[in-house]
Amino acid sequence: MLTRKFKLLLGVMIIVLVAIVLLDNVYQSLITFKWKTIFACDSDVQLRIIAIVGNRALSLKRLLNSLNNASYFEDNVVLDIWIDRSKDRKVDKQTLEVANSFHFLHGTKYIHIQPSYAGVYGQWIYTWNVSDLYPEIAVILEDDIEVSPFFYKWLKMVHNKYDSYDNINGYSLHGRCENHALIAPRNKYIHVPKNNTVFLYPAFNTWGFSPHTKHWLHFVNWVTLKSNDTTFKPSIANIEPTIAYEIARSRGTVANNWDFLHLYHAYVHKLFTVFPNIQGDRGLSVHWKEKGLHYPENRDKKSSGDLLQNWIPEIESLPDSPLYFDFAGRNINPKNYQWP
Ligand SMILES: *[C@@H]1O[C@H](CO)[C@@H](O)[C@H](O)[C@H]1NC(C)=O
Ligand SMILES: *[C@@H]1O[C@H](CO)[C@@H](O)[C@H](O)[C@H]1NC(C)=O
Ligand SMILES: *[C@@H]1O[C@H](CO)[C@@H](O)[C@H](O)[C@H]1NC(C)=O
Ligand SMILES: *[C@@H]1O[C@H](CO)[C@@H](O)[C@H](O)[C@H]1NC(C)=O
Repeated sequence: MLTRKFKLLLGVMIIVLVAIVLLDNVYQSLITFKWKTIFACDSDVQLRIIAIVGNRALSLKRLLNSLNNASYFEDNVVLDIWIDRSKDRKVDKQTLEVANSFHFLHGTKYIHIQPSYAGVYGQWIYTWNVSDLYPEIAVILEDDIEVSPFFYKWLKMVHNKYDSYDNINGYSLHGRCENHALIAPRNKYIHVPKNNTVFLYPAFNTWGFSPHTKHWLHFVNWVTLKSNDTTFKPSIANIEPTIAYEIARSRGTVANNWDFLHLYHAYVHKLFTVFPNIQGDRGLSVHWKEKGLHYPENRDKKSSGDLLQNWIPEIESLPDSPLYFDFAGRNINPKNYQWP
């Protein structure tokens, strides 16, 4: 009798033990894996890549492949692909197919389809749900951009170094920066002494841009108010973008020139964009000047420069007092600089 009771007790104890071990495993996997994926809250994101896309399937494919080939140091990365509609509300099937079939190796991919035509204005301004509650780095990439394998390594470095400076509007990935002054020869690049790994310029560049959270948040609220204000006539003396904006305003197409509003906001608040200055003008991004709004055709299929394909340790020495340049490419002192 005793031995039967003992065996029964032993059996029950073994079952209970096994159940505890099994439940614990389930519990562990729930807390370490399931909850994290289901409730991955925005405060966990370290890098948010925002790819804004129209109807250029092949360009998108090149951009996405370059994103897969980049280093992310096991950081928590989100890739948001925003697909715009045409003015008659159509989504390009091939572009959607490229986005759907792409397997992002370094984080979570989300595909968002705009409910109606957003254009460059809507695609740039309302795709990052910017909040100063979240520490994430965001980078906005048009579909005809290609990135260097080190774009994120560079972004982490410069955000870490310069985010606390009070006049930094953001970071441009592109390796060269054209000046905007009417008096300077057109299409001339800002010339910066080679021993400066970065420099600052008043205008940003749409060929790969990572905004400073605080100033972008301010800009988005400001531009939302200004964009419908017909009495608002922004102007900066002696620069080419003012003329382009005035022409667009007379044609009723200012939404395509939204980047002038970004520049004007920088001008009003005395903000500068950080650019890389790497040997051989190599960039953390290049632009393929593909058929679209700004380039009717790119016959010879040339990119806007060379990508940084090998890391150069010197890039890591970021100056405490970087050089500043004005619209004509002249070295300035930001403390006593008179904006035009
Ligand atoms: C991927 O990155 C490596 C450097 O990390 C580079 O040498 C190579 O050319 C890149 N491949 C493509 C397809 O961009
Ligand atoms: C955007 O961020 C705010 C917090 O700033 C949050 O409350 C809201 O749910 C977010 N919206 C979306 C669509 O993610
Ligand atoms: C670059 O070189 C110039 C001239 O040799 C020097 O005055 C300057 O301090 C250097 N700048 C940096 C950031 O090393
Ligand atoms: C501005 O106009 C657009 C349509 O052009 C409209 O969708 C938007 O709500 C308006 N914004 C404001 C702040 O009135």
